[in-house]
Amino acid sequence: MKPVRKAVLPVAGLGTRIQPAAKTTPKNLLNVYDRPILAHVVAEGRAAGIEHFVFIVGRGQGAIEDYFDHAVELESGLEAKGKTAILEDVRSDLLGPGQMSFVRQMAPLGLGHAVWCARDLIGDEPFAVMLPDMLMNANPGALAQAIAAHEAVGGNIVVVEPAPPGEAHKYGIVALGETAPGFDGRLQTMTGMVEKPAPGTEPSNLFISGRYILQPGIFEALGEHAKGAGGEIQLTDAMLKRLRAEPFFALEYQGTTYDCGDKLGLLRANVAWALADPAGEADVRAALGALLGA
Ligand code: UTP
Repeated sequence: MKPVRKAVLPVAGLGTRIQPAAKTTPKNLLNVYDRPILAHVVAEGRAAGIEHFVFIVGRGQGAIEDYFDHAVELESGLEAKGKTAILEDVRSDLLGPGQMSFVRQMAPLGLGHAVWCARDLIGDEPFAVMLPDMLMNANPGALAQAIAAHEAVGGNIVVVEPAPPGEAHKYGIVALGETAPGFDGRLQTMTGMVEKPAPGTEPSNLFISGRYILQPGIFEALGEHAKGAGGEIQLTDAMLKRLRAEPFFALEYQGTTYDCGDKLGLLRANVAWALADPAGEADVRAALGALLGA
Protein backbone atom coordinates (compact mmCIF):
# COMPACT_ATOMS: atom_id res chain seq x y z
CA MET A 1 0.00 0.00 0.00
CA LYS A 2 1.38 3.43 -0.96
CA PRO A 3 1.74 5.83 1.99
CA VAL A 4 -0.13 9.16 2.20
CA ARG A 5 2.53 11.81 1.53
CA LYS A 6 0.62 14.72 0.00
CA ALA A 7 -2.27 16.85 1.21
CA VAL A 8 -4.57 19.10 -0.80
CA LEU A 9 -5.77 22.22 1.01
CA PRO A 10 -8.51 24.03 -0.93
CA VAL A 11 -8.62 27.69 0.11
CA ALA A 12 -10.13 29.31 -2.99
CA GLY A 13 -13.75 29.61 -1.83
CA LEU A 14 -15.47 32.98 -1.52
CA GLY A 15 -15.96 32.68 2.24
CA THR A 16 -19.33 34.40 2.11
CA ARG A 17 -20.25 33.51 5.71
CA ILE A 18 -17.36 35.45 7.17
CA GLN A 19 -17.34 38.56 4.98
CA PRO A 20 -16.24 41.33 5.10
CA ALA A 21 -13.45 39.99 7.38
CA ALA A 22 -11.99 38.00 4.49
CA LYS A 23 -12.35 40.68 1.81
CA THR A 24 -8.66 41.60 1.69
CA THR A 25 -7.13 38.88 3.91
CA PRO A 26 -7.65 35.30 2.72
CA LYS A 27 -10.14 33.65 5.09
CA ASN A 28 -7.65 31.00 6.11
CA LEU A 29 -5.10 33.62 7.18
CA LEU A 30 -7.50 35.01 9.78
CA ASN A 31 -6.15 34.47 13.24
CA VAL A 32 -6.80 31.76 15.77
CA TYR A 33 -5.03 32.87 18.97
CA ASP A 34 -1.36 33.02 17.97
CA ARG A 35 -1.21 32.23 14.24
CA PRO A 36 -3.38 31.99 11.10
CA ILE A 37 -5.97 29.21 10.88
CA LEU A 38 -4.00 27.72 8.00
CA ALA A 39 -0.81 27.43 10.06
CA HIS A 40 -2.66 25.30 12.62
CA VAL A 41 -3.96 23.03 9.84
CA VAL A 42 -0.54 22.68 8.19
CA ALA A 43 0.94 21.80 11.61
CA GLU A 44 -1.68 19.04 11.92
CA GLY A 45 -0.66 17.75 8.47
CA ARG A 46 3.06 17.80 9.28
CA ALA A 47 2.45 15.95 12.54
CA ALA A 48 0.66 13.28 10.49
CA GLY A 49 3.71 12.87 8.21
CA ILE A 50 2.59 14.95 5.21
CA GLU A 51 5.61 15.90 3.10
CA HIS A 52 4.00 18.07 0.41
CA PHE A 53 1.14 20.56 0.71
CA VAL A 54 -0.84 21.49 -2.40
CA PHE A 55 -2.79 24.72 -1.81
CA ILE A 56 -5.66 25.42 -4.19
CA VAL A 57 -5.81 29.18 -4.26
CA GLY A 58 -7.77 31.98 -5.90
CA ARG A 59 -6.97 35.55 -6.85
CA GLY A 60 -5.60 37.82 -4.10
CA GLN A 61 -4.27 34.95 -1.99
CA GLY A 62 -0.55 35.44 -2.58
CA ALA A 63 -0.07 36.16 1.13
CA ILE A 64 -0.55 32.43 1.80
CA GLU A 65 2.59 31.64 -0.19
CA ASP A 66 4.50 34.34 1.67
CA TYR A 67 3.37 33.07 5.07
CA PHE A 68 5.10 29.70 4.64
CA ASP A 69 8.32 31.23 3.23
CA HIS A 70 11.03 33.24 4.98
CA ALA A 71 10.25 36.85 5.91
CA VAL A 72 13.84 38.05 5.62
CA GLU A 73 13.49 41.51 7.20
CA LEU A 74 11.37 40.23 10.07
CA GLU A 75 13.68 37.33 10.82
CA SER A 76 16.91 39.36 10.64
CA GLY A 77 15.30 42.08 12.77
CA LEU A 78 14.31 39.56 15.45
CA GLU A 79 17.77 38.00 15.29
CA ALA A 80 19.50 41.38 15.69
CA LYS A 81 17.34 42.17 18.72
CA GLY A 82 18.00 38.75 20.28
CA LYS A 83 14.29 37.90 20.28
CA THR A 84 15.10 34.22 19.88
CA ALA A 85 11.85 32.71 21.14
CA ILE A 86 9.72 34.80 18.75
CA LEU A 87 12.14 34.05 15.90
CA GLU A 88 11.88 30.32 16.55
CA ASP A 89 8.10 30.55 16.69
CA VAL A 90 8.00 32.45 13.37
CA ARG A 91 10.35 29.94 11.72
CA SER A 92 8.50 26.91 13.08
CA ASP A 93 5.72 27.45 10.52
CA LEU A 94 8.01 27.55 7.47
CA LEU A 95 7.67 24.78 4.93
CA GLY A 96 10.83 23.52 3.24
CA PRO A 97 11.94 23.88 -0.37
CA GLY A 98 9.78 21.71 -2.61
CA GLN A 99 7.26 21.04 0.16
CA MET A 100 4.53 23.38 -1.08
CA SER A 101 2.77 23.94 -4.38
CA PHE A 102 0.15 26.52 -5.30
CA VAL A 103 -2.48 25.83 -7.94
CA ARG A 104 -4.87 28.53 -9.15
CA GLN A 105 -8.45 27.33 -9.32
CA MET A 106 -9.24 30.37 -11.52
CA ALA A 107 -12.98 30.21 -10.71
CA PRO A 108 -14.61 28.98 -7.48
CA LEU A 109 -16.66 26.22 -9.10
CA GLY A 110 -16.93 24.11 -5.95
CA LEU A 111 -14.87 21.98 -3.57
CA GLY A 112 -14.82 19.04 -6.02
CA HIS A 113 -13.44 21.28 -8.75
CA ALA A 114 -10.82 22.64 -6.34
CA VAL A 115 -9.60 19.12 -5.51
CA TRP A 116 -9.60 18.18 -9.21
CA CYS A 117 -7.17 21.08 -9.85
CA ALA A 118 -4.53 19.11 -7.88
CA ARG A 119 -4.68 16.04 -10.15
CA ASP A 120 -1.29 16.45 -11.86
CA LEU A 121 0.51 17.19 -8.61
CA ILE A 122 -0.97 14.18 -6.84
CA GLY A 123 -0.46 11.62 -9.59
CA ASP A 124 -1.15 7.98 -8.83
CA GLU A 125 -1.08 7.78 -5.03
CA PRO A 126 -3.51 8.11 -2.14
CA PHE A 127 -3.65 11.64 -0.74
CA ALA A 128 -5.22 13.68 2.04
CA VAL A 129 -7.73 16.49 1.68
CA MET A 130 -7.79 18.94 4.58
CA LEU A 131 -10.55 21.55 4.65
CA PRO A 132 -8.69 24.40 6.26
CA ASP A 133 -11.83 26.09 7.64
CA MET A 134 -12.23 23.17 9.97
CA LEU A 135 -9.89 23.39 12.93
CA MET A 136 -9.81 20.01 14.61
CA ASN A 137 -8.42 19.94 18.12
CA ALA A 138 -7.29 16.38 18.73
CA ASN A 139 -4.37 14.36 20.04
CA PRO A 140 -3.22 12.59 17.92
CA GLY A 141 -4.42 15.00 15.26
CA ALA A 142 -7.47 14.26 13.14
CA LEU A 143 -5.40 13.59 10.01
CA ALA A 144 -3.05 11.28 11.92
CA GLN A 145 -6.12 9.34 13.09
CA ALA A 146 -7.34 9.09 9.48
CA ILE A 147 -3.91 7.92 8.25
CA ALA A 148 -3.82 5.25 10.98
CA ALA A 149 -7.21 4.01 9.74
CA HIS A 150 -5.94 4.02 6.14
CA GLU A 151 -2.89 2.00 7.15
CA ALA A 152 -5.23 -0.54 8.77
CA VAL A 153 -7.88 -0.94 6.06
CA GLY A 154 -6.71 0.95 2.92
CA GLY A 155 -9.33 2.39 0.57
CA ASN A 156 -10.80 5.82 1.19
CA ILE A 157 -11.27 7.28 4.68
CA VAL A 158 -13.81 10.00 5.46
CA VAL A 159 -13.55 11.61 8.89
CA VAL A 160 -16.97 12.04 10.48
CA GLU A 161 -18.41 13.26 13.76
CA PRO A 162 -21.82 13.32 15.45
CA ALA A 163 -24.14 16.15 14.46
CA PRO A 164 -25.62 18.17 17.34
CA PRO A 165 -28.93 16.60 18.46
CA GLY A 166 -31.74 17.36 16.00
CA GLU A 167 -29.39 19.02 13.48
CA ALA A 168 -28.35 16.13 11.21
CA HIS A 169 -30.53 17.55 8.43
CA LYS A 170 -28.13 20.51 8.11
CA TYR A 171 -25.11 18.36 7.17
CA GLY A 172 -23.72 15.80 4.72
CA ILE A 173 -24.62 12.58 6.53
CA VAL A 174 -23.07 9.14 5.94
CA ALA A 175 -24.86 5.79 5.67
CA LEU A 176 -22.96 2.99 7.37
CA GLY A 177 -22.42 -0.75 6.93
CA GLU A 178 -20.16 -3.07 8.88
CA THR A 179 -17.85 -2.11 11.71
CA ALA A 180 -14.14 -2.66 10.99
CA PRO A 181 -12.01 -4.35 13.66
CA GLY A 182 -10.13 -2.08 16.09
CA PHE A 183 -10.67 1.66 16.50
CA ASP A 184 -13.19 0.98 19.32
CA GLY A 185 -15.96 0.49 16.76
CA ARG A 186 -15.41 4.01 15.34
CA LEU A 187 -14.37 2.79 11.86
CA GLN A 188 -17.24 1.58 9.67
CA THR A 189 -17.74 0.84 6.01
CA MET A 190 -19.63 3.60 4.24
CA THR A 191 -22.53 2.64 2.01
CA GLY A 192 -23.70 6.10 1.01
CA MET A 193 -23.89 9.82 1.74
CA VAL A 194 -26.86 12.17 1.78
CA GLU A 195 -26.51 15.94 1.66
CA LYS A 196 -28.92 17.65 4.09
CA PRO A 197 -31.37 14.74 4.52
CA ALA A 198 -34.99 15.62 5.35
CA PRO A 199 -35.55 15.45 9.14
CA GLY A 200 -36.41 11.89 10.14
CA THR A 201 -34.75 10.31 7.07
CA GLU A 202 -31.11 10.62 8.22
CA PRO A 203 -29.23 7.32 7.69
CA SER A 204 -27.05 8.10 10.75
CA ASN A 205 -26.18 11.07 12.94
CA LEU A 206 -22.59 11.25 11.64
CA PHE A 207 -21.65 14.09 9.32
CA ILE A 208 -18.68 14.50 7.01
CA SER A 209 -16.17 16.69 8.78
CA GLY A 210 -13.04 18.21 7.27
CA ARG A 211 -10.46 15.48 6.59
CA TYR A 212 -10.33 12.76 3.94
CA ILE A 213 -7.91 10.17 2.60
CA LEU A 214 -8.77 9.57 -1.05
CA GLN A 215 -7.54 7.25 -3.76
CA PRO A 216 -6.45 8.89 -7.03
CA GLY A 217 -9.41 7.31 -8.85
CA ILE A 218 -11.47 10.21 -7.48
CA PHE A 219 -9.99 12.44 -10.22
CA GLU A 220 -11.73 10.37 -12.90
CA ALA A 221 -15.12 11.08 -11.25
CA LEU A 222 -14.26 14.75 -10.62
CA GLY A 223 -13.17 15.10 -14.24
CA GLU A 224 -16.78 14.65 -15.34
CA HIS A 225 -17.41 18.16 -13.95
CA ALA A 226 -20.96 17.22 -12.99
CA LYS A 227 -22.69 20.06 -11.17
CA GLY A 228 -24.48 19.19 -7.95
CA ALA A 229 -26.00 21.10 -5.02
CA GLY A 230 -25.82 24.89 -5.42
CA GLY A 231 -24.68 24.47 -9.06
CA GLU A 232 -21.19 23.57 -7.74
CA ILE A 233 -18.94 20.60 -8.56
CA GLN A 234 -19.21 18.69 -5.29
CA LEU A 235 -16.63 16.34 -3.81
CA THR A 236 -19.38 14.23 -2.23
CA ASP A 237 -20.96 13.53 -5.65
CA ALA A 238 -17.62 12.21 -6.95
CA MET A 239 -17.18 10.09 -3.81
CA LEU A 240 -20.64 8.61 -4.34
CA LYS A 241 -19.58 7.55 -7.86
CA ARG A 242 -16.37 5.98 -6.53
CA LEU A 243 -18.31 4.07 -3.86
CA ARG A 244 -19.25 1.59 -6.60
CA ALA A 245 -15.59 0.96 -7.45
CA GLU A 246 -13.65 1.24 -4.16
CA PRO A 247 -14.15 0.73 -0.42
CA PHE A 248 -14.95 3.83 1.64
CA PHE A 249 -14.75 3.93 5.43
CA ALA A 250 -16.12 6.50 7.86
CA LEU A 251 -13.88 7.18 10.85
CA GLU A 252 -15.50 8.87 13.84
CA TYR A 253 -12.48 10.80 15.03
CA GLN A 254 -11.81 11.72 18.65
CA GLY A 255 -11.51 15.47 19.12
CA THR A 256 -13.39 18.76 18.83
CA THR A 257 -14.07 20.60 15.58
CA TYR A 258 -14.36 24.38 15.14
CA ASP A 259 -15.83 25.67 11.87
CA CYS A 260 -13.75 28.79 11.35
CA GLY A 261 -15.65 29.70 8.18
CA ASP A 262 -18.32 31.03 10.49
CA LYS A 263 -17.99 34.06 12.83
CA LEU A 264 -19.06 32.20 15.96
CA GLY A 265 -16.91 29.15 15.13
CA LEU A 266 -13.86 31.40 14.66
CA LEU A 267 -14.54 33.08 18.00
CA ARG A 268 -14.95 29.70 19.75
CA ALA A 269 -11.68 28.46 18.22
CA ASN A 270 -9.85 31.57 19.42
CA VAL A 271 -11.09 31.08 22.97
CA ALA A 272 -10.36 27.34 22.94
CA TRP A 273 -6.79 27.80 21.65
CA ALA A 274 -6.14 30.64 24.11
CA LEU A 275 -7.34 28.52 27.02
CA ALA A 276 -5.14 25.63 25.86
CA ASP A 277 -1.97 27.74 26.17
CA PRO A 278 -0.60 27.01 29.65
CA ALA A 279 1.39 30.28 29.61
CA GLY A 280 -1.65 32.44 28.94
CA GLU A 281 -4.57 30.51 30.38
CA ALA A 282 -4.88 32.42 33.66
CA ASP A 283 -4.85 35.80 31.89
CA VAL A 284 -7.39 34.58 29.32
CA ARG A 285 -9.73 33.32 32.04
CA ALA A 286 -9.43 36.63 33.88
CA ALA A 287 -10.10 38.63 30.71
CA LEU A 288 -13.10 36.50 29.75
CA GLY A 289 -14.43 36.62 33.32
CA ALA A 290 -14.21 40.42 33.33
CA LEU A 291 -16.01 40.62 29.97
CA LEU A 292 -18.77 38.33 31.17
CA GLY A 293 -19.08 40.18 34.47
CA ALA A 294 -18.20 37.05 36.41
P1 UTP B 1 -17.03 26.20 1.84
O1 UTP B 1 -18.21 25.40 1.53
O2 UTP B 1 -16.78 26.53 3.28
O3 UTP B 1 -17.09 27.53 0.97
O4 UTP B 1 -15.79 25.46 1.21
P2 UTP B 1 -16.45 28.93 1.21
O5 UTP B 1 -16.57 29.70 -0.04
O6 UTP B 1 -15.05 28.84 1.75
O7 UTP B 1 -17.29 29.59 2.39
P3 UTP B 1 -18.84 30.02 2.42
O8 UTP B 1 -19.61 28.75 2.62
O9 UTP B 1 -19.12 30.72 1.12
O10 UTP B 1 -18.92 30.93 3.60
C1 UTP B 1 -15.04 24.46 1.88
C2 UTP B 1 -13.58 24.63 1.52
O11 UTP B 1 -13.40 24.47 0.13
C3 UTP B 1 -12.76 25.60 -0.43
C4 UTP B 1 -13.04 26.73 0.55
O12 UTP B 1 -12.03 27.73 0.48
C5 UTP B 1 -13.06 26.02 1.89
O13 UTP B 1 -11.76 25.88 2.43
N1 UTP B 1 -13.31 25.86 -1.79
C6 UTP B 1 -14.66 25.90 -1.96
C7 UTP B 1 -12.46 26.07 -2.83
O14 UTP B 1 -11.21 26.05 -2.69
N2 UTP B 1 -12.98 26.32 -4.07
C8 UTP B 1 -14.32 26.35 -4.29
O15 UTP B 1 -14.71 26.57 -5.45
C9 UTP B 1 -15.18 26.14 -3.21
